[in-house]
This record gives sequence, C-alpha cells and structure tokens, in this order.
Amino acid sequence: MTQNEMKQKVAEAALAYVVEGSIVGVGTGSTANMFIDALATVKDKIKGAVASSEVTAERLRGHGIAVLELNDALQQVDSLSVYIDGADEFDPEKCLTKGGGGALTREKIVAAASSKFVCIVDGTKQVDYLGGFPLPIEVIPMAESLVMGIAGKLSGEAKVRAGFITDNGNIIIDITGLKITDALALENDLNEVPGVVTNGIFAHQRADVVLMGTPEGVQTL
Ligand code: 5RP
Repeated sequence: MTQNEMKQKVAEAALAYVVEGSIVGVGTGSTANMFIDALATVKDKIKGAVASSEVTAERLRGHGIAVLELNDALQQVDSLSVYIDGADEFDPEKCLTKGGGGALTREKIVAAASSKFVCIVDGTKQVDYLGGFPLPIEVIPMAESLVMGIAGKLSGEAKVRAGFITDNGNIIIDITGLKITDALALENDLNEVPGVVTNGIFAHQRADVVLMGTPEGVQTL
C-alpha cells in the first residue's frame, strides 16, 4: 500500500468522529485534504467547519461546506466538537510536530478550541522522539534576527523558510536536527521568546486520538 493510500484510509476513518449537527475543526495538508473530500459526503449532517488555513477554507467552500470564522462559531457553541488534522510526526505520548505546510498557528488555535483532536497520519509519521522532521516556528518578521540567534543556540540548525509567508503575514524559521526529549518544556521555552507567534510542537494541544494508516489497516492509538 502506498503512503497516499494509507492517508486516504485514515481520512475516511476519521468520518466516524464527526459529530452530527456540530461544527467541525479542519486541518491543513494532504491528509486533511483527503478528509475534506470525505467530509463532503456527509456535509448535510454538519452545521459547518472552521478552517485552519485559507487553503483549507477554499477547499471546504469548493465542496459547498459552510465555513465559519472561529469567533463566530464560538458565539454559537462552547467548543468545536472535534478537530481533525494531520501531523509531520507523533511520539508515544501523542505529542506532535506540525507546520510542514506553515499553518501551525491557526492549527493550534483551532485545536485548542475543540473538545477532541483526532490526528490522521500514515505510519511513516510515528517516531520515538520528535525532531527528525524540521521544527517550524512562526515569527513576526521584525524578530527574525533575534529568534535566529536564540534558535541557533539549540542543537539543530535554524533556517528561514525561503519565500514563505504565513496566512498571518509572518515568516517561518525551521530547525533541523533536533532530538526533542521534553516536548512540553521546549514548546514552552520557544513560546517565551519575544516575536515567536507559536512553534510547531503540539504538546499542550497533543492528539487525543491518533488514527494511523498501515498496510494492515487503520490503527487507533
Ligand atoms: C500543515 C501540517 C500538516 O498537518 C502536516 O504538514 C502533515 O501534512 P500531510 O498530511 O501533507 O503529510 O501541519 O501545517
């Protein structure tokens, strides 16, 4: 089975977590795109969706799924029923690195506004320690040199993502070559640096459920 076929299977399996009549949080990336296509088959059963990026909002609208602003959705409900999104890596504690597509800040916001985070991944994303995949940090452009200096003191190598601006008008600094042994502590430390909007460690907003696609089928972790 190819990686794309495994992604397709978990995207379809995630439909079981969609709560009828509710507002659903929707992530960004190729696996999330497959979930959006699957969600379209039950679009009349949900009130609408909150998107974690402009690209996701466009795809949802393309399927005729109502897209709500998060602030408007939270006028109607205390929290979104579920947030469904992919990840770049997940560890045994279901902590994640995310932001390969640069949507980490909005993804973290929508995850925090949801009662449950269902992470949909293929088996290649499973790791013992986060950090093999470059860790993205969203940074206000004025703080680029400051954050590069601080990120440079970590064990990995920091680089500005060339030619990329986030939906929020900021830059991304990627740190490669980390071995993250305390995800919660590094998430906190990086967020303390002035100019950092957020970083791609999802330890506070870790997954509640991971659906992992394998050649043998979908595993629920
Ligand atoms: C985007 C993300 C994605 O969830 C992550 O990059 C995984 O993407 P894909 O499903 O394409 O493998 O965090 O910001």
